[in-house]
Amino acid sequence: MDKSEFGVIGLGVMGKSLSLNMAEKGVNLSVYNRSEGDEARVVSEFLDKNHALKNIAGFTDLKDFVSSLELPRKMLLMVKAGPVVDDIIAQLLPHLTPDDVIIDGGNSYFKDTQRRYRNLQQKGIHFIGCGISGGEEGARKGPSLMPGGDIEGYTVVAPTLEAIAAEDAKKQPCCTFIGNDGAGHFVKMIHNGVEYAEMQLLAELYAILSPSMDNEAIADMFSKWNNSDLSSYLLEITVDILTKKEGGAYLLDKVLDKAENKGTGNWSSKTALDLGVPATMMTSAVFARYLSSFKATREQLSDGLQPLNSSNRTLDLTILEKAYRFARIINHHQGFEVLQQASQHYDWHLNLSEIACIWTNGCIIRSRFMEACSSYLKDASLLSQQDMFATLKSAESAIAEVLHTALSNRIQMDAFWSAYNYWINMTTKRLPANLIQAQRDYFGAHTYQRIDTPLSEFFHTNWSTS
Ligand code: 6PG
Repeated sequence: MDKSEFGVIGLGVMGKSLSLNMAEKGVNLSVYNRSEGDEARVVSEFLDKNHALKNIAGFTDLKDFVSSLELPRKMLLMVKAGPVVDDIIAQLLPHLTPDDVIIDGGNSYFKDTQRRYRNLQQKGIHFIGCGISGGEEGARKGPSLMPGGDIEGYTVVAPTLEAIAAEDAKKQPCCTFIGNDGAGHFVKMIHNGVEYAEMQLLAELYAILSPSMDNEAIADMFSKWNNSDLSSYLLEITVDILTKKEGGAYLLDKVLDKAENKGTGNWSSKTALDLGVPATMMTSAVFARYLSSFKATREQLSDGLQPLNSSNRTLDLTILEKAYRFARIINHHQGFEVLQQASQHYDWHLNLSEIACIWTNGCIIRSRFMEACSSYLKDASLLSQQDMFATLKSAESAIAEVLHTALSNRIQMDAFWSAYNYWINMTTKRLPANLIQAQRDYFGAHTYQRIDTPLSEFFHTNWSTS
C-alpha cells in the first residue's frame, strides 16, 4: 500500500472530526489510537463507520503507524494536554527521522510547548504547537488554526492545515503561521481567555434580563442583536440554548449553575498578570466560574437576603445593547493587549491583525466585531482608534446605568464591572496611586517619583509625623 501523507494520533472527538475533515479533502491518512481497555475498538469502529472514505488506514501499533507515513512524516497529536503529550512523543521518538514534523493540536500550556519545541529541535524534529478552535463541528467542517513553532516545519504541513481550516470572508484559510516555539498555543490560550469573558457577558445579560423576561423573549432580543454589528457565534448558540425545550420546559432552567473549566482561562489570567497586562475581564470571568462552584454555600448564605431596592425601574434594552457593545470592545482590547505584550516579551513578532483575521471564522469567538478588529489592528490598539474610543465614550452612561440596575437588584455582573472599571481607570488622569507609592515608601523605603521633578529622580521621605 502507498504511504500515507499525514497521520493523526488520538481518535477522541476532535481527532476523529479532524481526520474526517482531512480525508474528505483528499489527504491520504493514517490514524492511530491505542487499543487498551475501553479503547479496544476505537480504530476499527471508526474505520467501519467511515468505510466510504477509502483513504484512511487505521493502526493500533504506533511503530506500524509511523512506518505507514511518507517522509518527512507529518503527524498530528490529538491527545489530552499534559503528560500524555510527553509520553506519546517519547514513544514516537525511536521511530522518527530528522525533518519529521509533530503537531500538537491540543490545548497545551505554551511553556510546555516551548520546552517540547526546544527538546525536539535538538533531535532535528520540527514541533508545531497548533491551537485549534471550533469544537467538534469546527474540527469537522473547518476550524481556526493557530500553528506556532518554526517556519520550516510549518511549510511542510501548511498545505494540509490550510486545506482543512475554515475560510475567512475573502476565502483565505483561517490558518496562519503565528510565531516561534509556543506562540500558537499562547494565542489559542488567549483566545480562550477572551472566550471566557464573552461567555460571561452573555451569562450576565441573561441574569439581569431573566427576572423580567422569559427565555423566549431574551432569545428574541439576542436574535435581533445577532443581525447587527453585535453578531457572534456565541450569541447565536445562546439563542438556541435559551429556547431549547425538554418535555415542554426550558432545558436551561434545569442545568445546574456550577460552571466548570479545563484551565485555559486560568492560564490566560495568570499569564496576563505575569506580563503586567490588566486583562481584568478574562480574570473576572474565571473567578465568576470559581464562585459559581460554591453552590452549597451560596444556597445556605442566600437565605433571607433581598435586593436593596425592589422598586426597580425597567431596564431600557437599547441601553443594555450599548453596555454590551462597550464591554465587548474592552474585552477584545484586553485580549489583544496581552498578545501585544507577549509578542515583545517572547520576541514572537505577532501580527495582531492577522490573528484577528483567522479568528473571524471557524473559532468560538468568531464575530462581526472580530472582522472589524482585523482591520483596526493593522494600525494600532483598539482603544487608540478614534471611533472605538468615541463608541466607548458615548456608551459610558449606558454601562453605568446597567450596573446601577444590577446593584439595586443584587445581580452579579463581574465582567461588566471589570469592563467599566478598566475604562474608568484608563481614562482617569490622576489615580490614587500616589498614596500607594507614599505608603510603600513609608514602610519599605521603596522610593517614589514626583510630578514636580524629572522622572529620572527617585525620593525617599521619613513620612512619620510622630
Ligand atoms: C475552542 C474551545 C475549546 C474548548 C475549551 C473549553 O476554541 O474550540 O475553547 O478549546 O471548548 O477548552 O474550555 P473550558 O472547559 O475551560 O470552558
